[in-house]
Parts: sequence; C-alpha cells; structure tokens
Amino acid sequence: MLESDLSGRVAAVTGASSGIGEATALALAKAGAKVALGARRTDRVEALAERIEGEGGTALALELDVADEASANAFVAGAHEQLGGLDVLVNNAGVMLLGPIEDADTGQWRQMVEVNVLGLLYCTHAALPIMRAAGAGHVVNLSSVAGRFARAGSGVYNLTKFGVNAFSEALRQETHESGIRVTVIEPGYVETELQGHNTGAVRERIAAMRDSMDGEVLVADDIAEAILYAVSRPARSSISELLIRPSRQAG
Ligand SMILES: NC(=O)c1ccc[n+]([C@@H]2O[C@H](COP(=O)([O-])OP(=O)(O)OC[C@H]3O[C@@H](n4cnc5c(N)ncnc54)[C@H](OP(=O)(O)O)[C@@H]3O)[C@@H](O)[C@H]2O)c1
Repeated sequence: MLESDLSGRVAAVTGASSGIGEATALALAKAGAKVALGARRTDRVEALAERIEGEGGTALALELDVADEASANAFVAGAHEQLGGLDVLVNNAGVMLLGPIEDADTGQWRQMVEVNVLGLLYCTHAALPIMRAAGAGHVVNLSSVAGRFARAGSGVYNLTKFGVNAFSEALRQETHESGIRVTVIEPGYVETELQGHNTGAVRERIAAMRDSMDGEVLVADDIAEAILYAVSRPARSSISELLIRPSRQAG
C-alpha cells in the first residue's frame, strides 16, 4: 500500500520559486510536511508560502542564493530552527545554459558550477550534522538525464549533473549507516522556466527537441510526485536513483 504521510516532518526545498521546486514544495506540504522555501526571488517564495498556509499547511519563505555559502548555511539553519527540525533537504536549485564549449561565455559556466554543484554541496554540508544528530534524514539531489548521458552542446551542464550523481553516490556510502538516505532524481524534458534562460540557436535546438515529442513533455508535478514517493518510503527502503523521461523522449 502506497502511503505518503509526511505529518510532523520538515522539508527544505531550494529553488522553490518556480518549476520543479515549487511543485515539490506544494506536494510535500500537501502530504503534511512543514516546508522551508528558498530562492532569490523572495516575492515568489513568499506568495507560495501564503498559498500553502492558506491551504492549511505550514511554510517558511527564506531568501536564498545557494552560490553564496553563508546564504546556504543560513537557509538550512533557518529551516531547522524555525520549523523545528530538518528531515528532508531537496537540492533543486539549478540553471541550464547550453551551447558549444568553444567560444562559450565562461560566466555561464561559472554560474552553472556555482549553483548546480557548489550550491548543492553547501546546503548538503550544512544539513548533514543536523541529520546525523537526529539519526535520520533524506537528501534529494536534482540531477538530470544529462547526468547520465553527455551530448554535444551540453558539455558543462553535463559536467555539473554528472558531478551531482557522483557526489550523491559517495554521500550515500558515507551516510547510509547513520539513517540518512540519498536520492538522485534525473528528469528528462520538463516544461519549466529552465529552458527559457537560453537564447538564439540553443533555444531553437531546445524548441526542436520539444517539437520532436509533439509537446508531450513532462510537467513539474510529475517530478514532484517522484520526489514525494522517494521521501515517503519506510526507513528500510532507500530509493537511490529515479530517471524519468517523457515517454516520447529518445535520448
Ligand atoms: N526542466 C527540465 O527539463 C529539467 C530536466 C532535468 C533536470 N532539471 C533540474 O531540475 C531543477 C529545477 O529546475 P526547473 O526545471 O524547475 O527550472 P526553473 O523553473 O528555472 O527553476 C529553477 C529554480 O532554481 C532557482 N535558482 C537558480 N539559481 C539560484 C540560486 N543562485 N540560488 C537559489 N536558487 C536558485 C530559481 O529561483 P530564483 O531564480 O528565484 O533564485 C528557481 O526556483 C534544476 O536543478 C534543473 O537542472 C530540470
């Protein structure tokens, strides 16, 4: 019997201002968890917190720039102290700025490494002592199909997401005896704001990929449901990895 009751649990979600993070926060709150919502766009996380509270849940909106270690530390500590625990950390914040390696804007590389990799590391580093002291916890890391399969035009995004997969497996091995579980989520094409940060030929390539599936791509709720599934399994069951593609996505 599939149960997803998270009553009494606390979850912190990075990048909760849109897309998968927003949908995940809503799903976890609906299952009974108290949720901390972090992002740079505070107006968005505040509006989401109001919505969750209006539906009878408990939510805390916090300003967060995961690329800033002090901000990441403050987010995790704020969730823990103000919501009374930290059972689940969803490292979701991410950016995808695609394009060939040659002639790339190296500032975009820096942003992807700082957010997708370092941001996830900072938040995890801050959460681990809390979870270890509690003897339980769950770290959910947003990777991607791009964390399993590299493609021309996606080199540095691939690098960040392959890194997330490698780090997550090492983390799992380091923490499995302390009641901490680690799950990697690897979505294929999900309709969110993520693709819209690209321009020119890259944007056309993304649109062509979407067209090749006649627009039948995933929605953020599909991934939120997968995350809810992973974090609501009984303590004996650890879902290490979930790869979810649109049914019509080839690669
Ligand atoms: N959509 C897809 O097809 C897809 C596929 C595979 C994997 N993913 C992964 O799923 C995750 C969520 O992406 P999404 O599709 O939901 O994209 P999205 O709608 O663009 O959401 C990205 C989130 O990350 C946050 N973010 C970006 N930089 C941040 C920073 N420095 N500090 C804190 N938060 C930051 C954004 O919030 P602010 O801008 O307000 O800070 C936003 O809430 C990412 O890790 C992405 O790589 C997505």
